[in-house]
Amino acid sequence: MTKLTFGALVALAMTAAASTAISSNAMAQDAAAGKTSFNKCLACHAIGEGAKNKVGPELNGLNGRKSGTAPDYSYSDANKNSGITWDEATFKEYIKDPKAKIPGTKMAFAGIKNETEINNLWTFISQYDKDGKIKQ
Ligand code: HEC
Repeated sequence: MTKLTFGALVALAMTAAASTAISSNAMAQDAAAGKTSFNKCLACHAIGEGAKNKVGPELNGLNGRKSGTAPDYSYSDANKNSGITWDEATFKEYIKDPKAKIPGTKMAFAGIKNETEINNLWTFISQYDKDGKIKQ
């Protein structure tokens, strides 16, 4: 009886370890897919170490960043005064239809409708801290 319980516990622990490995692997895959999707943003946005403002502001440390606050970037009043703090929920709503979330924004981008793509994009973008380093 004791042996059986121990065996069951070992099996349980192994399952837990395996699923942790699978989920961190899935996360890496999502980030990789998000990086591909970020190609749609690259004409106007940079991210990562040394990222500079382009047509649009650099996007480092976006998670928790207030809208309109990338240093030295000239925002529209609409973006600057939107009162948004970027996080998973606000970003996902915005990127679906930027002009609906921030009427008057000068970001000329129609949006991304596919939920999986949006999720992957957020996984990719939210990896970066304000210095453009990937958070551990
Ligand atoms: C054609 C150029 C262009 C493309 C493509 C583009 N953006 Fe933008 N983006 C801008 C501009 C310009 C702004 C500044 C808007 C303003 O000031 O009204 C902006 C603003 C933003 C903001 C708000 C930043 C802040 O500091 O408040 C986010 C977030 C953002 N873009 C994400 C994205 C993502 C993600 C993509 C790709 C899926 C993307 N953008 C594609 C031009 C673009």
